[in-house]
Amino acid sequence: MTMCAVERSGAVADYIPELTRVAPDGYGLSLCMHDGHVYSHGDSAASFTIQSIAKALTYAMVLTRLGPREVDRRIGVEPSGEAFNEISVDRARRPKNPMINAGAITAASLLLPQVRDLDDGAVDAAFDELVAFYSACAGRRLTLDEAVYRSEARTGARNRAIAYMLDSFGGMGAEPEAALDLYLRQCSLRVTTDDLAVIGCTLATGGVNPRTGRQVVSPEVAQRVLSVMTTCGMYDGAGDWVSSVGLPAKSGVGGGILAILPGQLGIGVYSPRLDAHGNSVRGIETCRHLSTDLGLHMF
Ligand code: DON
Repeated sequence: MTMCAVERSGAVADYIPELTRVAPDGYGLSLCMHDGHVYSHGDSAASFTIQSIAKALTYAMVLTRLGPREVDRRIGVEPSGEAFNEISVDRARRPKNPMINAGAITAASLLLPQVRDLDDGAVDAAFDELVAFYSACAGRRLTLDEAVYRSEARTGARNRAIAYMLDSFGGMGAEPEAALDLYLRQCSLRVTTDDLAVIGCTLATGGVNPRTGRQVVSPEVAQRVLSVMTTCGMYDGAGDWVSSVGLPAKSGVGGGILAILPGQLGIGVYSPRLDAHGNSVRGIETCRHLSTDLGLHMF
């Protein structure tokens, strides 16, 4: 099959060594409708690591546990206009939003016991709860990619620096190493585009998984998560994305994009070649086409 320029442009993430092992031209697309029907195309059953798409789900978890008022005290909701791995904080030294690494590491810290001397096993226990929540959103049990997790843990100087910097600002209750560990584990969960589409539809339909019928988050939490995905989910590419695609979305350096048409459907797309913002080139192009051809733009 011949490939067009968009399909060949971009490069797989290489700052996490294990991610360089993926097939660069893998491609999958899935749509989950509000009745739970999933339409799939390409490698829709091939799994890849969820990476930053996890940030939307962990944000939903902390909103559910602590309520928006407490979460807002710790993490802002403003677009940063900077790369995902910048230490973007506001005047109160809060991470600017939960979709960048700084906000997501803070969110992970809020899922841990807010003490300094954590028991052995505290991160394991928090991770078990996190996996249970993500799995409820996907409608099947998700598993960890140990190799990617270990690879990023070994090479994660930038995220470690962010965690310690935020800790020095007093923004994290839990120990920075524990928060970082939980964050890295959540990034290394494996998903398929079918999973992303179901997760997206769960958020699209007020928090009810369309395949299991289970209310996984409240409509208020789903609404907040979609709002912040709209303004911050594609990082410093968010303005271009919202203008041209017009859907709440979240990308990951594994090559996945989760996009959502509120009230209607969830879209999962996978293609690991990334642009300069860390977003999938072909994933964006696919969503642009879907938005135009099916009239999905929200505005
Ligand atoms: O923390 C990191 O750098 C990665 N585990 C996740 C970054 C990411 O997915 C950025 N998104 N496109």
